Amino acid sequence: MKEITSIDQLAIFGHEPMYKEPLYVGRPNIGSQSGFIQRVNDILERRWLTNNGPYVVEFENKICNMIGVRHCVAVCNATIGLEILFRALELTGEVILPSFTFIATAHALRNQDVTPVFCDIDPKTHNIDPEKVVPLITRKTSAILGVHVWGNACEISNLDEIAKLYQVKLLFDAAHAFGCSHHGSMIGTFGDAEVFSFHATKYLNSIEGGAIVTNNDELAEKLRLMRNFGFSGYDNVVHLGTNAKMTEMSAAMGITNLEFAHDFISVNFQNYHLYRESLESIPGIRILAYDEKEHNNYHYVIIEIDDSRAGIDRDTLMKILHAENIIARRYFYPGCHRMEPYRSMYPNFDQSLPETDGLVKKVMSLPNGTSITPNDVKTVSSLIGFAIRNAAEIRVKLLEREKKLTYQSNLDRYVFPNPTSIHYQDEVGV
Ligand SMILES: Cc1ncc(COP(=O)(O)O)c(C=O)c1O
Repeated sequence: MKEITSIDQLAIFGHEPMYKEPLYVGRPNIGSQSGFIQRVNDILERRWLTNNGPYVVEFENKICNMIGVRHCVAVCNATIGLEILFRALELTGEVILPSFTFIATAHALRNQDVTPVFCDIDPKTHNIDPEKVVPLITRKTSAILGVHVWGNACEISNLDEIAKLYQVKLLFDAAHAFGCSHHGSMIGTFGDAEVFSFHATKYLNSIEGGAIVTNNDELAEKLRLMRNFGFSGYDNVVHLGTNAKMTEMSAAMGITNLEFAHDFISVNFQNYHLYRESLESIPGIRILAYDEKEHNNYHYVIIEIDDSRAGIDRDTLMKILHAENIIARRYFYPGCHRMEPYRSMYPNFDQSLPETDGLVKKVMSLPNGTSITPNDVKTVSSLIGFAIRNAAEIRVKLLEREKKLTYQSNLDRYVFPNPTSIHYQDEVGV
């Protein structure tokens, strides 16, 4: 494990970074290179590259069995999955969702001409707060769209009650939540439908990819039509559709990784616990806990930095980590409501999402996954501890550096007279 003992050894102050190669959040997990290559060879020999090929069907069946859901419709990515789901359900008007989500959740609605209405979150769980959903319901509301952020389930029964009471659909963006459960049932079985992402950065990836899962037979049939332009056979288009198909290569990666899903979780789990042990006692750091009675994929190691106790704010801590090539990430910053086109659509949202606004300033995700070793976890944690223990000294040094830089840039901006344009008396006289 690498350790720093004096602030002069920090890369932010010009020292060599601790890591030559960056440590990333969400570096792809690859179960077996040879297993994947073998499947790629099968695909090439079969010459069946896409259009509901055998690997896509196998991937879908495996997901159905694993989750205990009737239908899995594999798609090219979760964003398009959300879009065809909204279209298939004929959502109109407004849909209530958290602003603390990846922008795709909101864009997928807007791309279907549905207006996203942003709801605040519960700061303890980072998920949509059911109590704050009710006041946002209007006659135009057609659905509630929860997001199981970090794989932790929303308060599903409360949301379900509200959705039933107001007769609106209940959907979940489960992009983070493959392999996770709620009250013992796997995520993917709740609401009218849920959507997983298998993007390269997710715990289980199919390079790009996603899946819509539902127990609704009619909806599943519609989704299958819609992901393939609405074709119900040769030359027979019976529904509006698009191209949302998953390729065979993606399914091959998905199936290969499914075989190693337990290994991924076990690495994530160990790293998460090591982070917890190492960070728990550091003042001003809260590490988001997983409910260990549930299945979790432990893919995200999320900390909140309370700058009043840590003596250092999230962004400064992140800069210190980045300088060392530890690419920790802010998440969902600055919140969907502060990004276009939503910022312009809702100029008054400024005051209405205080928990979201508070969280985006203090949340940070730390590197995890199969490319991260226990030694890396110890190094990252000890660096965070060091930065917080030495926060005052670091602040002073950063301030001095900033002053120097400002002075230098003022100096650079000052235009000195060009000596060749100065005509001295004797020259003029020549
Ligand atoms: C919460 C959430 N929703 C949706 C998506 C979009 O997934 P995809 O990249 O598969 O389109 C992501 C992707 O990172 C996400 O984190």
